[in-house]
Amino acid sequence: MRGIILAGGSGQRLDPLTRITNKHLLPVYDRPMIYYAIEQMAGAGLDRIMIVTGGNHAGEFLRLLGNGSRFGLRHLDYAYQDKAGGIAEALGLAEYFAGGEPVVVLLGDNIFEYSIAGAVQRFTADPRGARLVLAEVDNPGAYGVAEMRAGKLVRIVEKPKEPPSNLVATGVYFYDTRVFDMVKTLTPSGRGELEITDVNNGYLQLGELRHEQLTGYWADCGESFEMLLRANNLVAEHGANKPIA
Ligand code: DAU
Repeated sequence: MRGIILAGGSGQRLDPLTRITNKHLLPVYDRPMIYYAIEQMAGAGLDRIMIVTGGNHAGEFLRLLGNGSRFGLRHLDYAYQDKAGGIAEALGLAEYFAGGEPVVVLLGDNIFEYSIAGAVQRFTADPRGARLVLAEVDNPGAYGVAEMRAGKLVRIVEKPKEPPSNLVATGVYFYDTRVFDMVKTLTPSGRGELEITDVNNGYLQLGELRHEQLTGYWADCGESFEMLLRANNLVAEHGANKPIA
């Protein structure tokens, strides 16, 4: 299993903090934001990781992270996304790196209270289709929202004005090797991006999207200044990426 961390995008919702650096290099409590994603992957036993980034500050990732040995990684790969064409487009750039193995994809601005090691193990044991981790939030309209019918996931709707539930897709995704073919079939959404939600709905249509529910807190630091502040406080108070007892 290979790990892919997506750390491109424009970071517009955190402007002007992101005018002179990449969002994922901003501090969250005592570390740059991207550290949490790398430590999460490393803690779950993934030692071959690719970081996809872009924009004017891509070189800073190399300066900060080097070859990843500080995190106990065997190797850290990088890919460059020319423009913020969407999460699914960024993922597509990692096809060669994945080398025909299933992948864990982590959005570089997401921080979790607990380690994803259990979910990685469950997918490793049966790496078919796709798997999502859902969280209950009080502002679902900011995310990909799960539409449930009789307890069954029937669709993910990206940032709907009228959310069908308060269960949302967090930024950790598990995919089998078909994901890269799926990405190639996508067309840009209304906001001009290749959407990860379309990939997930593609798996859903095949009847191959499974999901589990999150334990502990989850913070999408790029969602708003309030979330970034909340993430700082949550990490300071509770820590991050802790093993589930
Ligand atoms: O955080 C979970 C949410 O992430 C999901 O619930 C949504 O379904 C999903 O679309 C995504 O929504 P966001 O609005 O939070 O996505 P954002 O544009 O912030 O991008 C998330 C990460 O992906 C970010 O850390 C940078 C990376 N990214 C994003 C874009 C648009 C790239 O690497 N390249 C890109 O072109």
